[in-house]
Amino acid sequence: MTDLNAAKKYLEENGQEQVLGFYDELDEAGKQKLLDQIEKLDMSLIGLVEHNDETSERGKLEPLNAVTVKEIEKNGALYKEKGLEAIRAGEVGAVLLAGGQGTRLGYDGPKGTVNIGETRQLYIFECLIKNLMKVTDEAGVTVPLYVMTSDKNNDETVKFFKEHDFFGYPESEVSFFIQDMAPSVDHNGKLLLEEKDSLSLSPNGNGGWYASMAKTGVLEDVKKRGVKWLNIFAVDNVLQQIADPLFVGAVIDKDVVCGAKVVRKNDPEERVGVLCLEDGSPSIVEYYEMTEEMRTLRDEEGELAYAFGVILNYLFRVDELDRIVNEKLMTHVVEKKIPYINEAGEHIKPETPNGYKFEMLILDMIHLVKNCLPYEVVREHEFAPIKNKTGIDSIESAKELLRKNGVVL
Ligand code: UTP
Repeated sequence: MTDLNAAKKYLEENGQEQVLGFYDELDEAGKQKLLDQIEKLDMSLIGLVEHNDETSERGKLEPLNAVTVKEIEKNGALYKEKGLEAIRAGEVGAVLLAGGQGTRLGYDGPKGTVNIGETRQLYIFECLIKNLMKVTDEAGVTVPLYVMTSDKNNDETVKFFKEHDFFGYPESEVSFFIQDMAPSVDHNGKLLLEEKDSLSLSPNGNGGWYASMAKTGVLEDVKKRGVKWLNIFAVDNVLQQIADPLFVGAVIDKDVVCGAKVVRKNDPEERVGVLCLEDGSPSIVEYYEMTEEMRTLRDEEGELAYAFGVILNYLFRVDELDRIVNEKLMTHVVEKKIPYINEAGEHIKPETPNGYKFEMLILDMIHLVKNCLPYEVVREHEFAPIKNKTGIDSIESAKELLRKNGVVL
């Protein structure tokens, strides 16, 4: 839609004329940039604001048994052997989800570049690479690492890895790929501008990671190398084990297409998404979607029946990802604080949520796969997420956990 008239018509049809409010002030490059963005717009997203119903009906929910810490202790040697075998055969790859904006942390830059060291520099990315290298050192082979970034943070992320020599990991094993963006709207569903020549665009959630791997071409590398399993993990959990041989081995041993690392809920009211069965298929159900009865239900051993919360560390079989890649994932309409320019052309940084972003979430992928093994890990050893500035899941709480696990800060 390099043509202004076509753009005008398209916006008018959708009640979004405000997007061209500053068009006449722009230079040629700015005009072109805006028209290109309008051309790529998916207006169907905006309709979702009106029908936003996050509490949609759930199917029949049932508990899903996990392979527990106890069982892992018992079968550890077998799982480890199977896992290492797959890793040594080059069948395991890792995918770092680093396209998010980390708005809760409020750090100006990619979250992975935050330094959490005290007596030395220790970056979040560095923690993750070191965790991965524990496995690759033991296995004696490297694991390809695919890093998802967004238009907002890709250049800075790549530069950071280069400046730090990939923290000792071979550069040839690391590929970056950029996820898609989605527009943001105000509470009335009107598209927001970030600049006079630019829509407010933000990464479209972590659910589209595999489709983005396909679209950007990095999937060819996965296929060329013969990678059969991908371990997906979030940027913010500095304690997590990546390409964990025991996890990989357990998933292979149980002959399933997917595994999810989970932690046991501290108490029935803990607000985490729980992995269970919905109409016979694996599914992650949010705290608020469960009845009081379900939250407190106990099994014969007196343990919570819906006990296992996900920590965003999954293992997927690649052929299963290929099977589901074209299935449509639900788009979530998420209320956020979105910087924008107002009608007077002033930059506004809101203190409270002022509109919506559109996101697809990886947790919805779990409902599409044939089966999924919840794999219990010890929270204190493997779960130290950095989400907030202070308090729960903050840099402070993560540091405390790192110290307890013997990491020198
Ligand atoms: P979060 O749900 O914590 O979102 O992401 P976020 O955007 O990073 O942080 P807030 O909510 O704005 O504070 C969980 C993981 O998914 C990645 C993040 O980088 C993190 O590793 N993610 C999230 C993406 O890769 N892309 C996205 O569009 C969103």
